[in-house]
Amino acid sequence: KVEAVIFDLDGVLVDTAVYHFQAWKRLAKELGFDFTETENERLKGVSRIDSLRLILNWAGRAVSSEEETRLATLKNSWYLELVSTMKVGDVLPGTEDLLLNLKKAGKKIALGSASKNAQLILEKVGIAHYFDAIIDGNGVRQSKPHPEVFLRGAEALRIPPDKCVVFEDAQAGIDAAKAAGMKVIAVDSYNVLNDYDARINNLIEVTL
Ligand code: BG6
Ligand code: MG
Repeated sequence: KVEAVIFDLDGVLVDTAVYHFQAWKRLAKELGFDFTETENERLKGVSRIDSLRLILNWAGRAVSSEEETRLATLKNSWYLELVSTMKVGDVLPGTEDLLLNLKKAGKKIALGSASKNAQLILEKVGIAHYFDAIIDGNGVRQSKPHPEVFLRGAEALRIPPDKCVVFEDAQAGIDAAKAAGMKVIAVDSYNVLNDYDARINNLIEVTL
């Protein structure tokens, strides 16, 4: 029986995956390089610095660690410009109902995100109060597909991993959840992900 639900943030609860894509695309353009939506799939769920390194690698560029930091900071400032337009209620369809129903059913709820902006975004869209634990990019050392973020979530909730179910929109996240010994539901309307236990188009489709 499922006792806890762990949500990824970007692309599952909020429509920010598209902002990450836009900001990375803008950065790539500055580097005289472009990448496709298919390549972007590989950036989903991956930490800021690892995403930058993938892009630099695709662009065939090597930069100093100071320059890496500058580029990552620049991307984040553009990302935050896009995020600044978000307001209370700006969540993906089905989010509030699902969180509410899980609460009513006595399930524990955690966030398992790679983002260092997670807390800010949860508060901006007004759903932070639903979470019993928030594990984000500030507290995790190993990026998805490593299971650390989800194992830390289960630990914080005091629920064994095999009683947790994860909602993910990224292959790295699905692999992380499986590696943690959890069930994983892919939120994947384009049907591009693999190795999940179930697939949904959006959170509206979820029934307890
Ligand atoms: C993940 C996103 O949730 O967070 C990635 O899917 C992003 O695209 C990562 O790179 C880190 O986010 P941030 O906000 O700390 O740059
Ligand atoms: Mg995501």
